[in-house]
Amino acid sequence: MCGIIGITGHAAAVDGVVAGLRRLEYRGYDSAGVVTTDPEGLRVVKRAGKLDNLAGALDGQPLSASTALGHTRWATHGEPSDRNAHPHLDPSGRVAIVHNGIIENYQTLKAELGDVRFASDTDSEVVAHLIAEQLTASSTAATAADGTPDLLAAVRAVVARLEGAYALCVVAADDPETLVVAKHEAPLIVAQAEGVGYCASDVAALIEHTNEVAALLDGQFARITPQGIEVVDVDGVPATPHAYTVDWDLAAAEKQGYDHFMLKEIHEQPQAVADTLLDRLNAPAPGLPPRLQLDELRIDEGEFSRIDKVFILACGTSLHAGMVGKLAIEHWAGIPVDVEVASEFRYRDPIVDPHTLVIAISQSGETIDTIAGAAHARNQRAPVIALTNVVGSTLAREADGGLYTHAGPEVAVASTKAFTTQIVGCLLLGLYFGQARGRVYSSEVADILERFDRVPDALREVLELDGQLRELAQRYHDVDYTMFIGRHAGLPIAMEGALKLKEISYLHAEAFPAGEMKHGPIALIEPGSLVVALAPAGHVFGKMVSNIQEVRARGASVLAIGTAGSTAALTEHADDVLTLPEPPHELAGPILSVVPLQLFSYHVATLRGEDVDQPRNLAKTVTVE
Ligand code: AGP
Repeated sequence: MCGIIGITGHAAAVDGVVAGLRRLEYRGYDSAGVVTTDPEGLRVVKRAGKLDNLAGALDGQPLSASTALGHTRWATHGEPSDRNAHPHLDPSGRVAIVHNGIIENYQTLKAELGDVRFASDTDSEVVAHLIAEQLTASSTAATAADGTPDLLAAVRAVVARLEGAYALCVVAADDPETLVVAKHEAPLIVAQAEGVGYCASDVAALIEHTNEVAALLDGQFARITPQGIEVVDVDGVPATPHAYTVDWDLAAAEKQGYDHFMLKEIHEQPQAVADTLLDRLNAPAPGLPPRLQLDELRIDEGEFSRIDKVFILACGTSLHAGMVGKLAIEHWAGIPVDVEVASEFRYRDPIVDPHTLVIAISQSGETIDTIAGAAHARNQRAPVIALTNVVGSTLAREADGGLYTHAGPEVAVASTKAFTTQIVGCLLLGLYFGQARGRVYSSEVADILERFDRVPDALREVLELDGQLRELAQRYHDVDYTMFIGRHAGLPIAMEGALKLKEISYLHAEAFPAGEMKHGPIALIEPGSLVVALAPAGHVFGKMVSNIQEVRARGASVLAIGTAGSTAALTEHADDVLTLPEPPHELAGPILSVVPLQLFSYHVATLRGEDVDQPRNLAKTVTVE
């Protein structure tokens, strides 16, 4: 939540910052602001609302400087408004800060400052006051060897007093070419290219300048100047951040002719799934049968024989992928799996020990709930595997092992290609555990993987249903209530379908296991309700037909998502039937069946005139609890 970008040493730093904010806007879009430094002082322009408001203000009030710092906000403390927009200044205008995270003890710190007026209602502003105070107090540690104020030392001294989560970037009028950053439980990367220094919340903001970046670790600070980057720890001792090369380019982070990122990302799914499946089957040595290999896992195959329980931790869409993961791991590996809302995990007493494997799933790898849950498990010596889409992300770094999805950057707040590739990751993990535990023979593994390889083509077929889905959206975009129902592998997709519809169209939508409806939720059904039923051919199809009849008898319209083998039977029970190809494996079915629900939600939202890529109240990366 919130996006930060800083640039120093570039003739058009403000333009660079605004361009970077555009790529970070998915992290929050309640307000945006920019500050420039020069020896005459700090100049701030900030506006409530989307970045366009700030861009408009800058057109009328151009700023020019070689050092600039920008922020796009997802509001936590203080309503979205001009005064609460970042950057925040200290009262003398000497120091400006931008912040992503929450300063939990801000009220105590404000009280310690005494009778000082604050210009905003945020938790962040106090940090600017404290740093300015440090710089002013001549006897503090905030002094360089030559006696001049040292911004990095001042920031370190202040950060020692902060509780909470923060990625902070600070500039000061008397050190105009320097950016100082601090990181704790919120992402921050730094980079240097052609005499320009950068910092940002994620690589999307910097990819047009460089693909060589370094992620700061918790407790690290950096001083960024056009001449170089100095990274230190909390004691001021030189420290090493996590340096890595980004393997995608600017084109991947742009709309490429699509009306919205969400639509582009839906259409990228065949390729993303193919990339995530690529090169997984290899012979361990010449003459030996090929085995599924997950090189990034970094956990020895033998270790899996000691595992007697699995927890999958995730939030939102990633949680729904985890539900498919449970089916896969229990099916192939025969290990019991609990799927947990990550934000609940560490606040109860989960039974976790070194024989428990924790799989943390997160597209961004920066979701604080998931990171904290995984850390809780590690503290109890459970091995943690991170299934993420972002190389170098906090979760990926902190886990014992990992598996990357290869979806490329996902910009739309509504997750699509990340979800389908997470399911692929879960299927691979389930199969790998089954292989490691000797429950699935090599020949079976090869056969299943060969079937998975047919999924991208099947996805292309599903995408051809787009016209039909647009018509269905025309018919249903005004319904009062939509219930999604499914069983087995259809249930996670029902849940994901309901999440997609509510988050971008703001329609009331819920999901239930189809068999659970009669225990309460069916009371909600009345004429005018829409029920979307996941009803592929398979062992639960007959039961789904009964549940469809139950809601139809109570006046609901039914949109059934079937497969080639089930739709003939569905037509007499549903108002509308969509026919998907038969999946090459039952557990790969969810990868196909979610796509019509993504497209349906997309068309409903556009017909209702909603902002598909930036839905209200949400942000892409959730770095606060
Ligand atoms: C879904 O469309 C959302 N973007 C949201 O539910 C998301 O999946 C959740 O916030 C988890 O994000 P993560 O995968 O980056 O951890």
